[in-house]
Amino acid sequence: MILRAVFGINKGVYYNELGKRFSQFLDLFNSPIYTTTLFLPFLQKNLGKWSPWGNFKYQQQAIYTLLEQEIEQRKEVKNGEDILSLLLSATDEEGHHLSKAEIMDELVTLLFAGHETTASSLAWAFYWVHSQPEVYHNLMDELATINPETDPTEIAKLPYLSAVVSESLRIYPSVIFAFGRTLKTPLEFMGYALEKGLTLVPSIYLVHHHPDIYPDSKKFKPERFLERQFSPYEFIPFAGSNRRCLGYALALYEMKLVLATVLKQVDLTLANPRPILPVRRGFTLSPSGGVKMKIANKYQFIHR
Ligand code: HEM
Repeated sequence: MILRAVFGINKGVYYNELGKRFSQFLDLFNSPIYTTTLFLPFLQKNLGKWSPWGNFKYQQQAIYTLLEQEIEQRKEVKNGEDILSLLLSATDEEGHHLSKAEIMDELVTLLFAGHETTASSLAWAFYWVHSQPEVYHNLMDELATINPETDPTEIAKLPYLSAVVSESLRIYPSVIFAFGRTLKTPLEFMGYALEKGLTLVPSIYLVHHHPDIYPDSKKFKPERFLERQFSPYEFIPFAGSNRRCLGYALALYEMKLVLATVLKQVDLTLANPRPILPVRRGFTLSPSGGVKMKIANKYQFIHR
């Protein structure tokens, strides 16, 4: 879906190739060797395709080559409202376009940030809905009020569906830490005297499990989000302030529409009733082994 948002219409073989390359590239970050290399510049030595940094650069280049081809083609045919079209036509105050390198960096950032995060969050949402019969029934009762003609923006406003998505993002936030913030001035914070230049890394997971804010925090209870509103300091799956996730509105919209559309089309059951534990996958907190499900029944529900 992030490929479609960024590049527009479905492009068959090109998508498959780029999708495959991207997944392989993201998988590199599952290994501590690769994540360590990213943070320690002296390990960043290209000793050929079989060395960690060499492989990283090789895979990165393969993606850049594919993106470059697409940008060249798109310069000829400007079509549509996708992000690549917008980037190609954007100009600064003096009428200058973005360079190819700038466009590629923007594309990679969006694909990287928008792929695994949303996919993991959706996998968790499917898991929670199907591991709690009461939640499933409440959600299906609400989804019974929509039909193929219902406007997607109306679906995204459904209260219980929204609460299910929020509670999924709370209990296992797919990004556990916000980016670090470096203090420009000294700060007195909860009795600590913090010096200028110190980098603070807010923990999203710990905020979401603070017992004063979320009693019984290990329990999946969408009702929390119906009973009260949480402030931007209490519920922070997309972190906060002026560097809050750029894609948060798209991600929430996407999650709600995918859940509603799939649940209206198929009856799913978890392939294995045992609890699924979280595991680090790249930069995200993902369901260990994935969420395997079986299709019990299929229905005709084609959204306009
Ligand atoms: C459920 C899905 C997602 C989650 C949980 C998530 C979470 C986050 C978090 C925690 C940050 C760090 C923000 C901070 O430190 O203040 C972030 C940054 C970012 N996200 Fe997301 N994200 C999601 C989906 C997306 C999507 C779909 C896109 C792109 C369309 C995206 C693009 C970005 C970008 C560009 C940044 C960097 C923003 C900046 O530094 O100014 N994210 N995201």
